[in-house]
Amino acid sequence: MGIENCRIIDLPKISDGRGNLSFIEGSVHVPFEIKRTYFLYEVPEKSERGSHAHKNLHQFILAISGSFDVTLDDGLEKKKYHLDTASAGLYVCPMIWRLLDNFSSGSVCLVLASDFYSETDYIRNYSDFISRCNGKDNS
Ligand code: TYD
Repeated sequence: MGIENCRIIDLPKISDGRGNLSFIEGSVHVPFEIKRTYFLYEVPEKSERGSHAHKNLHQFILAISGSFDVTLDDGLEKKKYHLDTASAGLYVCPMIWRLLDNFSSGSVCLVLASDFYSETDYIRNYSDFISRCNGKDNS
């Protein structure tokens, strides 16, 4: 799976005089069943998060509040997204290196994931990631 599979997905948005409501249903609005949710908050503006890839995990990342950048890398190509709305998010398929930075003050990053937390699903070393992308490491 390459970077071309990653994309911004617009969410339903119900708006009236009381404000906006958006929702996400697994396998309906995102292309996977949702097993886990986590969120990044009180992130210092100069912080970088991510800097890893996942072997099998699908994720959907959105800026519930404020904004931040997500740079995706499939070993061949890089693409940077600026997320700044709660009504759309970024789908990230497996085997994509991601870096999150440029967090605005008070921003909240919500992540929906296709599986429970498992450290063995992480690739935290960029050289290992590139080796796997090139089919040199199947562990
Ligand atoms: P990590 O995924 O490296 O954070 P980020 O990508 O935002 O920089 O996770 C940081 C720590 O939190 C690491 O020790 C693993 C732990 N963690 C969990 O225990 N459960 C989770 O669902 C997540 C995402 C992380």
